Amino acid sequence: MDVSLRRLTPDDLPRLRQFWRENWGDEFVVAHGVVYHPETLNGFIACSANEWIGEITYTFTGEDCEIVSLDSLRESQGIGTKLMEAVLEEARQHNCRRVFLITTNDNLNALGFYQKRGFEIVAVHRGALNESRKIKPGIPLIGINGIPLRDEIELEMSLRGEA
Ligand SMILES: CC(C)(COP(=O)(O)OP(=O)(O)OC[C@H]1O[C@@H](n2cnc3c(N)ncnc32)[C@H](O)[C@@H]1OP(=O)(O)O)[C@@H](O)C(=O)NCCC(=O)NCCS
Repeated sequence: MDVSLRRLTPDDLPRLRQFWRENWGDEFVVAHGVVYHPETLNGFIACSANEWIGEITYTFTGEDCEIVSLDSLRESQGIGTKLMEAVLEEARQHNCRRVFLITTNDNLNALGFYQKRGFEIVAVHRGALNESRKIKPGIPLIGINGIPLRDEIELEMSLRGEA
């Protein structure tokens, strides 16, 4: 499959909002108590023949780069890896100290995906989803794989010390 990446542009925002609504329940993302709206984020879109097949969004705070969302619409074809590598490269260009992200305790697939690619679990924020539900009440009580959706898990890749 011929996959190309391009930067997220203002023209993509309606599609991205719709995508988040369909896949994440609303047009914004909540992580560690912060609300992220698409128009405030950087991102890349993965396309095949002009069709969206993946998206990643990220933001810079101080020396940190945070991945806010990552979705592959055609799994196990290298799209998630490609999107993540594009953000790692951006973070290196910005001389970031680390790239980090929040996932949830039920997302066993994502936990495996990130750890296999060099991310380490650096914190478990127990019960954080209770706080997120105050902002985004639609967050379900039961998540992926029938697992109670409770905790935020913070993973990071340190970029300091890289050759
Ligand atoms: C997590 C997620 C982004 C991964 O995306 P993906 O496109 O499936 O990722 P990749 O294809 O790059 O890698 C997935 C697996 O496919 C394998 N793979 C990649 N290309 C392949 C190919 N051509 N043939 C067979 N397997 C392949 C990879 O080796 C990898 O396996 P591994 O992790 O055991 O090494 C995706 O599962 C997803 O969108 N999940 C739902 C949303 C989500 O949970 N996002 C993260 C929230 S924080």
